[in-house]
Amino acid sequence: MNVLVACEYSGIVRDAFLRRGHNAISCDLLPSESDKGIHYQGNVLDLIKGDFNWDMMIAHPPCTHLAVSGARWFTEGKKPWSLQEEALDFVRKLLDAPINKIALENPVSVISTKIRKPNQIIQPWMFGDLATKTTCLWTKGLPNLIPNITQKPELEYHYTKSGKRMQKWMYDIRCKNAKDGTRAKLGSKTFLGIANAMADQWGTDG
Ligand SMILES: C[S@@+](CC[C@H](N)C(=O)[O-])C[C@H]1O[C@@H](n2cnc3c(N)ncnc32)[C@H](O)[C@@H]1O
Repeated sequence: MNVLVACEYSGIVRDAFLRRGHNAISCDLLPSESDKGIHYQGNVLDLIKGDFNWDMMIAHPPCTHLAVSGARWFTEGKKPWSLQEEALDFVRKLLDAPINKIALENPVSVISTKIRKPNQIIQPWMFGDLATKTTCLWTKGLPNLIPNITQKPELEYHYTKSGKRMQKWMYDIRCKNAKDGTRAKLGSKTFLGIANAMADQWGTDG
């Protein structure tokens, strides 16, 4: 399959498809962190118009102006609503791309109220990673992912200096490794279990 992984700098989903023999290409405004495959550093809108022959696109558009968790920035007048409109417009263009199989991933976001409800809501732990991070999937021409784990496992927690309880993966990003400017970027990486499930379950003809 010709698979376009849009808005991915990590290479995690692209490489999962490559490992299964697909022709997968990632695209992001940023360079790729993985040198295992082809990466187009530029605007994904360049790749979804014209004569490209994609069988599938998996897209991870930025949630900065869409996440429900950040809504107060708009309601309190700290951010102009035009930013949210632009972000929604980008999502619409991705969902309307002339590709038969599309999955678009975002956290709980205004896409649900302004465009349409997600087809599926998943958690990383359902696919083997010890984490909760509510992940919504808006799909076209693709079935829901089947989790390999249905019973939520015990998660590992750490406490911050101020006594706040935090999941280990988040603690590692926010308190141990990452410098301020890289936290959001690291936190936006796709979990490997979800990437493998996409490639296993969606990477078949039909
Ligand atoms: C939420 S992050 C997704 C990260 C992804 N899950 C990963 O594992 O690499 C959103 C990404 O979209 C990229 N992006 C934003 N606008 C874009 C555009 N027009 N074309 C391509 N990538 C874009 C950003 O640079 C950012 O890396």
